[in-house]
Amino acid sequence: MTSNQITIALTKGRIEKDAVALFEKAGFDMSFMADKGRNLIFESPDKKFRFLLVKAPDVTTYVRHGVADIGVVGKDVLVEHPTGYLEMLDLNFGLCKFSVASTEDYNPDDHKRKRIATKYPTIARQHFNQKGEDVEIISIQGSVEIAPVIGLADAIVDIVETGSTLVANGLKVYEDICRISARMIVNKAALKNNAELSPFIRKIEAIVGNEEVPFK
Ligand code: PRP
Repeated sequence: MTSNQITIALTKGRIEKDAVALFEKAGFDMSFMADKGRNLIFESPDKKFRFLLVKAPDVTTYVRHGVADIGVVGKDVLVEHPTGYLEMLDLNFGLCKFSVASTEDYNPDDHKRKRIATKYPTIARQHFNQKGEDVEIISIQGSVEIAPVIGLADAIVDIVETGSTLVANGLKVYEDICRISARMIVNKAALKNNAELSPFIRKIEAIVGNEEVPFK
């Protein structure tokens, strides 16, 4: 590894593909990642960049530990893993939203203590707290849509992109909570110590046309 090399952890899958397209647009030749096979680490031929392909929550772990200087990951993941990095840019891809959804017979105004199933307990708790509602959060790992159908929960808090998973499972959106998009996160010490980092981030910023967002 060369001294001012930039290591970037990318969320494997669609975010990774959109990020590579963004870097191409910013003028970086990303052809070395075209034929990926099952490789998970890629170094650019000029050795200026190294890319790690990792699972979404692990992007924050790599950046927090300083093993990666930069991470590209969805805001949904940052909400649940909020510390140990600087959130620098909204990259404006990977767009979707957090919503409250349930079956036709769900009554959002019901005063009973609701059970909310979710993979995102932090955002779910924050949302209902803000409404002054005390709910029981039931954390599950996936296939959240079946929870209200089979009676595990009254409603779910989940990611909605096209809405087709909800429709396929007989659910509908009752409330939208917030927009989700891919973000660029940065290791604070790396920002100070690696002189290549700021110019790189500014190049990307010029493409996505965003101001820095404050550290949350
Ligand atoms: C997410 C989310 C929904 C689905 C929504 O799951 O939890 O199930 O996408 O997309 P749609 O509105 O376009 O139908 P994801 O694919 O991330 O995987 P999961 O099975 O781990 O929840």
